[in-house]
Amino acid sequence: MDLMKWKLVFGVLLSTTLSVLLLRQLLASWAASLSPSSSSRKFEWEIRPPQTMDLNYPYPYPFLINHPDKCEGPRGAPFLLMLVMTRPPDVGVRQAIRQTWGNETLVPSVVVHRLFVLGLPPLLFDKELQPLLKEEDRKHGDLLQVGFFDTYGNLTLKVLMGLEWMAQHCPTAQYVLKVDSDVFLNPRFLVQQVLWPNGPSRPDFITGHIYRNTKPLRDQHNKWYMPPELYAPNRYPDYCGGPGYVLSGSLVLRILTAAQSVKVIYLEDVFIGLCLKLLGVKPTPPRRNTFLMYRWNYNHCAFQRLVLVHRFQHQELLQIWPDFLTSNPACPTI
Ligand SMILES: *[C@@H]1O[C@H](CO)[C@@H](O)[C@H](O)[C@H]1NC(C)=O
Ligand SMILES: *[C@@H]1O[C@H](CO)[C@@H](O)[C@H](O)[C@H]1NC(C)=O
Repeated sequence: MDLMKWKLVFGVLLSTTLSVLLLRQLLASWAASLSPSSSSRKFEWEIRPPQTMDLNYPYPYPFLINHPDKCEGPRGAPFLLMLVMTRPPDVGVRQAIRQTWGNETLVPSVVVHRLFVLGLPPLLFDKELQPLLKEEDRKHGDLLQVGFFDTYGNLTLKVLMGLEWMAQHCPTAQYVLKVDSDVFLNPRFLVQQVLWPNGPSRPDFITGHIYRNTKPLRDQHNKWYMPPELYAPNRYPDYCGGPGYVLSGSLVLRILTAAQSVKVIYLEDVFIGLCLKLLGVKPTPPRRNTFLMYRWNYNHCAFQRLVLVHRFQHQELLQIWPDFLTSNPACPTI
């Protein structure tokens, strides 16, 4: 067999082993959760009663893992604060991001800070996971954990809590990037070609892939289903696609003010769009094909000239990164 085939066989074996291990862990913690002795839930006292959809920002949730001094370190207030949304169990994803686009010193001319925003692990896992998260944070100092369950339905809360952290502890950050963890990101292009460190300040700046005039999906089986009770109009306002958008720090502060009077909907990007509408701020269109909301296969030259590509697995990220960092004089200049 040639090398490729061996790699494939090895990959299949590895993922099967991992699935079996995961299943065993699941069963074990399920069994443990059934036994009366271990029914105590660590964070129960920290969680408020179940929320209705009417809950408005600001939220009562505490930061359980926090770095209030992150922006006061020797490197000073950041030019760019990266708020990366991750789920508690995604340890490997976070590690890959640290080693690739999340590297804070990748763009040498500016100060970049990275924080991973996450909520509480599902109860089934929290006994195993919480100490591991604390350990991970001791090592890297970059987790921001908020005291609510980390579910898709709570994504808007998660994003707002990330922005809230910025308002409390890093209000002079010039730009804030909200980014998901399943993307490829090119921070150099973002800083140098989109944010311009030496350009004028742009207090109402927000950019990303702009969805215009889209309709709420009313099919209950759709992932993005929107019940009419929650949002009645038949159009959404313009909004920047959730996988990644970047905005000025001063706009973050204004969005947080607006968020107090906008009904929370679980589609985080649409919610930010509703806040922008209230503020009368229009997203700035990016250069064509620089924020890709769909999958695009890696290509060295093309990836030098874009900001973000959605749907990148972390293994793949690690694989392409060395090549991405090499300078290739054969690429047309930007
Ligand atoms: C981050 O990037 C710098 C400069 O390119 C490099 O020296 C460093 O090893 C990188 N850090 C990690 C964790 O990969
Ligand atoms: C959001 O988190 C709260 C607090 O942990 C929880 O009670 C609620 O069920 C979560 N909401 C959704 C939609 O998952």
